[in-house]
Amino acid sequence: MVKEMEDIIRIKGGRKLKGEVTVSSCKNSVVAILPSVVMASEIVKLYDVPDIKDVQILIKLLEFLNVKVRADGDELTIDPTNITYVDLLDDDVMKLRASYYFMGALLGRFKHVRMYSPGGCNLGPRPIDLHLKGFEALGARIKQEGNIIEITADELLGDDIYLDFASVGATINIMLAACFARGRTTIENAAKEPEIIDLSSMLNKMGAQIRGAGTSEITIHGVNRLKGCIHDIIPDRIEAGTYIIAAAACGEDVTVNNVIPQHIEALTSKLEEMGVKLEQGSDYVRVYESPELKAVDIITQPFPGFATDLQQPLTSLMTKAKGDSKIEETIYAERFKHCHELNQMGANIEYRTGESLVHGGTPLHGTDIFATDLRCGAALVIAGLMADGETFIHNAYHIYRGYDSIVSKLRAIGAEIE
Ligand code: EPZ
Repeated sequence: MVKEMEDIIRIKGGRKLKGEVTVSSCKNSVVAILPSVVMASEIVKLYDVPDIKDVQILIKLLEFLNVKVRADGDELTIDPTNITYVDLLDDDVMKLRASYYFMGALLGRFKHVRMYSPGGCNLGPRPIDLHLKGFEALGARIKQEGNIIEITADELLGDDIYLDFASVGATINIMLAACFARGRTTIENAAKEPEIIDLSSMLNKMGAQIRGAGTSEITIHGVNRLKGCIHDIIPDRIEAGTYIIAAAACGEDVTVNNVIPQHIEALTSKLEEMGVKLEQGSDYVRVYESPELKAVDIITQPFPGFATDLQQPLTSLMTKAKGDSKIEETIYAERFKHCHELNQMGANIEYRTGESLVHGGTPLHGTDIFATDLRCGAALVIAGLMADGETFIHNAYHIYRGYDSIVSKLRAIGAEIE
């Protein structure tokens, strides 16, 4: 698994991309789905599991809990029947954000969890107060000592929970714990991301009673037990968006397959506004060569608004557009580290907390640059494809956390990348 482990990606820019690329299953779904399996009393089988670093780490954490995981290609058979509770005080917990889904899942199953705070991309402050408030509303007590969080409940009782912000993580964590809470829980102002629908449809196959996922009000009737299931994970909308942007930047004619176009409407409509020529089918987006690009403004928002995760990759494309593009980042005010790196390549981007201004029409040149987080890395790969000369992206491990086989997929459509 994860074959592309070298820590530097080298790209010789200027090659035209042509052909077909297939998107893998969704990282932000699978990273919620894997921890949720601890709630099952029977075997769970997952298809099309992406080969990414975050999945490997979560499998190690499952094994730490004595959950048996067997991989056969991209299929995972997960057997939680002999699960034993242990405190998740393992360094791996701090390597990714999604380890926090063990909080909701283990609290639901064992009424107790003690673990390190999660890590994940450094995007500025990423509090989890809404998760903890949600657990408290269900009757849990929280104790925090340094980096260790302990959550305990004698019994979980359903409640009406209003989220001050439609947080993806808090919605999922509360949904997980509430599956085993007595009575009815409602989450108001819930996040509506497709990954939440995917997780809830899997939990419902396991016998959960969740209604309304994908809307701002989710209702969960607690149950006593969850059984096994077979589940196919949805395609990754952010990976799809990344390849579509790369194709808009350097493509002659690229078809991105395994896409749910409704999941990326905010992106495709912005790209069309920029002058990118697109054709959308039921499960693909075809991108034609688009030499003339116009500047556009975007504001990142929770789904179905423009995804913060695509703001960074789109910035690279904006350097090519005629005029000034403005980005207002409302989710992670400090998610602009890629701008520094792009400026090293010849871009002209002003940025400060909450916003950036991309002065377009600046050709990029290759140099040594650093991925500081996952989507920064994706932005730099696109920039490297666009640039004149050779680009060396250091700290490429950030990229392998979320992009399955990115080097071989890009090479297959004509990129010179290794
Ligand atoms: C998820 O992060 C994704 N991660 C992120 O993907 C994505 O950028 C983000 O949702 C927004 O779409 C995973 O799914 C593992 P949030 P999450 O809770 O759950 C504030 C990527 O590149 N907030 O919706 O952490 C928070 O600070 C990654 O794939 C609180 O204030 O996002 C942020 O400003 C990075 N208190 C905003 O809400 C809380 O208790 C959105 O956070 C929780 C969140």
